Amino acid sequence: MKIAMVASEARPFCKTGGLADVVYSLSKELVKMGEDVCIFLPFYDSIRRQISEKALKKAASFKTHMSWRKQTVDVYQLVTEGINYYFIENQQYFERGHIYGDFDDGERFAFFTMAVKQFMLTKHMYPNIIHVHDWQAGMLPCVLRVDDECREKFAKTKFVFTIHNPAFQGLMPKFTLGDFYNLTDEYYDNGSVRFKDQVSTLKAGIVYANKITTVSPTHHLELLTPEGGMGLDQVLRYREWDFSGILNGIDYLEFNPAEDKQIAKPYSEKNLVSGKKANKEALMNAYGLKNTKGPLFSLVTRITWQKGFDIIFPAVEELIRRGASIFMLGSGESQYEKRWEELRNRYPDRVGIFIGYSDNLAHKVYAASDFFIMPSLFEPCGLGQMIAQRYGTLPIVRRTGGLKDSVICYDGGNAETSNGFGFDAYSIYEMNRTAQYAYDIYENKKILHQLMKNAMLTDNSWLKSTLEYIKLYKALVK
Ligand code: GLC
Repeated sequence: MKIAMVASEARPFCKTGGLADVVYSLSKELVKMGEDVCIFLPFYDSIRRQISEKALKKAASFKTHMSWRKQTVDVYQLVTEGINYYFIENQQYFERGHIYGDFDDGERFAFFTMAVKQFMLTKHMYPNIIHVHDWQAGMLPCVLRVDDECREKFAKTKFVFTIHNPAFQGLMPKFTLGDFYNLTDEYYDNGSVRFKDQVSTLKAGIVYANKITTVSPTHHLELLTPEGGMGLDQVLRYREWDFSGILNGIDYLEFNPAEDKQIAKPYSEKNLVSGKKANKEALMNAYGLKNTKGPLFSLVTRITWQKGFDIIFPAVEELIRRGASIFMLGSGESQYEKRWEELRNRYPDRVGIFIGYSDNLAHKVYAASDFFIMPSLFEPCGLGQMIAQRYGTLPIVRRTGGLKDSVICYDGGNAETSNGFGFDAYSIYEMNRTAQYAYDIYENKKILHQLMKNAMLTDNSWLKSTLEYIKLYKALVK
């Protein structure tokens, strides 16, 4: 099958969150299974800096209309690891020093969407599957299906739309439909793309794709309810037969403690105790954390309300008082970043922080820690908890979305099978209670090591999920 992924981020070139990992790992796995995969990405300045000009091939150059402006589009091609990347270049839109956060994000990704459409038409590229991720290119199935010329040319193409984060809904004023997407108001007036009295590219993806997926079975069920659907439950129920949840995996080559060159001492489940000890001491010493006998709790995260920061701080303080150390790696909302800095200043030999993102340090943190804190308010899938498990670090999660699907919580009686800790109610009390329970288990080394070993042996690889995606694609292509 010829499969085109269309997304706003993908490793190894650009990443702000799990989306980038998923687009890349899934594509890599599909290629391994013999599929023909390409990925469309905006050509951000950060990507340009990573690639030598010689490695790039110019695939096309044309003009497209955005509102009254004519915009140039240059498309560059790069083949690596069997994946064909197409980078859509326009310096006005993508030379910003960052990926998101501008007032005209709606216009920037509309441009990306329309450029992908035109590129495919120019190149007579009609893949079997166009797999669109999140709101940024959510309008692509719509623009390729409502236009007569496209409908004919893409008659054999099927669309899959994956929701990684329903909180980002691609809301834009009504006029953008005509201005950016060259569509009449009909699609707004008849409700196809109208949501909260605006245009929603996320809703458009849901309405016009042949199949819709989200990134875990539990989140699939949550999205169908008024409580968990973020307003999308109605339209998702209307598409219920075409909507499913497929749990993400993690990249087993990148995250492999037995061969990880980025950590102080590689280890497997066979020498996990000495291996983790060496990594823990290396990280703690590097950050001036003194109590290496106590447990080390960590977070590697985007710092945002979604990740549970409102219930984390009180529990963390209690843990520190009891003797634990904490390491936090992440960046995001400044109110929380400030609280982390305050905490570190108050307990400099107990709290280590790194505000920013570093893949290298993330590996070290996963390897060094005993516990991984991830009590998200909602979590479509979550990758951190699975990476933690791979490194024998026990996740402490709120049982929501993919966290519920990937962590078997220890309850005192299931040491043979469990690989983490969890609670249900989003409350400071529950967070604290569960963290303290994990600390109790830290003092019972027999159970602790059993759980850590279970975690390391949990299968979170991409294999199973990729087969599910292939099954979904094949059912469409038939
Ligand atoms: C988003 C979700 C996260 C998921 C990731 C990849 O970042 O918030 O839960 O793991 O996408 O699908």
